[in-house]
Amino acid sequence: MLLFHLGAKNRKYSFKSQFYMLFVWEKSIFVNMKRITFLTGAGISAESGIRTFRDSDGLWEQYPVEEVASIDGYRKNPALVLDFYNARRRQLLTVEPNQAHRLVAALEQKYEVVVVTQNVDDLHERAGSSNIIHLHGELLKVCSSRNPNDDRYIERVSADHQIHLGDKAGDGSQLRPHIVWFGEAVPQIEPAAAVIAQTDILVIVGTSLNVYPAAGLLYYAPRNAEIYLIDPHPDQIRTSRPIQIIGKGAEAGMQELCDLL
Ligand code: OAD
Repeated sequence: MLLFHLGAKNRKYSFKSQFYMLFVWEKSIFVNMKRITFLTGAGISAESGIRTFRDSDGLWEQYPVEEVASIDGYRKNPALVLDFYNARRRQLLTVEPNQAHRLVAALEQKYEVVVVTQNVDDLHERAGSSNIIHLHGELLKVCSSRNPNDDRYIERVSADHQIHLGDKAGDGSQLRPHIVWFGEAVPQIEPAAAVIAQTDILVIVGTSLNVYPAAGLLYYAPRNAEIYLIDPHPDQIRTSRPIQIIGKGAEAGMQELCDLL
């Protein structure tokens, strides 16, 4: 049973994801490779031209988050929310992965890499990363309003796809973006926590760690894991775990990390 809801500071956890973890770390079980997990947020896509949420020119300054990114907002004004995500999806046609996404993918040559991302864009995929967990959903997927996490009704769409009121999912309910909104469960949190619990190195890139349960994931890293943080404003981030800080933007910061590793 999943116990996490977006926005909630809830750390109860049942380790039912051990099979998933074995599957993801499969290579390093047979080949002697170190495991790196990236926990990424909006900042890694900033240099591709996608605005972050909470920086001074961030998306949440222009759009009230409770109106466009919460389940209550969707129930109140579905057309507004569909339009908001139609625009986010269409923006994918105009952006490309940056050097930070590419360096994350390139590390697969030397390490077993898993990317746990809060981002709903597809830039890690396009840069070539093979193991990606999307905690907050994906712009290029649509789902049922009645059963958002039922795989039978989740479909891939292209970036120019628009969802309109009246479009139906396979179960007859209104089609909606496959995005985890505030007030909804975060089904991918358990596999993500299980992966981080087995990692050798955790690298946090471009997230303010404001949103739970994602923000609590770093506490699943083993005591002896190395933890790095890449962010141009690292002072905003407070944690009790010892962390090596690279106070740079994602592209320069990822280059520095690769030189250090
Ligand atoms: P935020 O906007 O909260 O934080 C972005 C972080 O990126 C901040 O720490 C910035 O300092 C950093 N940053 C800015 N420019 C950067 C750059 N060039 N390189 C690296 N870092 C940079 O975004 P998230 O933490 O991702 O969820 O937000 C978490 C969640 O809140 C999102 O997934 C979204 C949002 O509400 C939903 O909407 C469901």
